Amino acid sequence: MKNLNYTQIEPAEIKDNLIRLIASDWMLVTAGTREKFNTMTANWGGTGYLWNKNVVFVFVRPERYTYGFIESTEGFTLTFFDEKYRTALNLCGAKSGRDCDKVAETGLTPHFTELGYPAFTEARLVLECKKLYAAQLERDHFLDLEPLKSHYNTKGGLHKMYIAEILKVWVRKA
Ligand SMILES: Cc1cc2nc3c(=O)[nH]c(=O)nc-3n(C[C@H](O)[C@H](O)[C@H](O)COP(=O)(O)O)c2cc1C
Repeated sequence: MKNLNYTQIEPAEIKDNLIRLIASDWMLVTAGTREKFNTMTANWGGTGYLWNKNVVFVFVRPERYTYGFIESTEGFTLTFFDEKYRTALNLCGAKSGRDCDKVAETGLTPHFTELGYPAFTEARLVLECKKLYAAQLERDHFLDLEPLKSHYNTKGGLHKMYIAEILKVWVRKA
């Protein structure tokens, strides 16, 4: 990352409003190895502080192709982009890596961090995250049924939540 025009900062130094960043700008969740990896768009999740660590939490439906890569590796990256990459994020959120080559279709350039995590050189912000805890959401655990009804009445499983430690944060130099 150092030779890619990025500077490493502490998680608490991220200047963006993280709710807006995740909810409105969206992110790519990317996991896998140099041999095979996949990426998908996500805008459910957050950041915070847990077990004395800086963490992210993301929610991934088991039917996503990306799910298998997150399950089988120690961590993943969250990458954030300028508005001009919205088309790429739309594609990564509409098509599955099972059916297409997202790298070829978006033109994004993958690279691997020193920790071996996949990211994209076009990202303006990269979070390298190591999984700490995973839990499948369960119907019985909803205290308010509204989200259950509005998001899980159609086909598809409930999301799995991953809490992951933010190991490194990189911002692209201006
Ligand atoms: C704006 C946006 C946000 C999304 N957020 C999530 C999310 O938080 N969790 C999730 O499981 N899927 C989310 N998706 C859906 C996946 O990105 C989509 O199903 C994608 O095609 C999965 O790709 P894959 O099969 O290659 O993993 C989102 C899609 C869009 C467009």
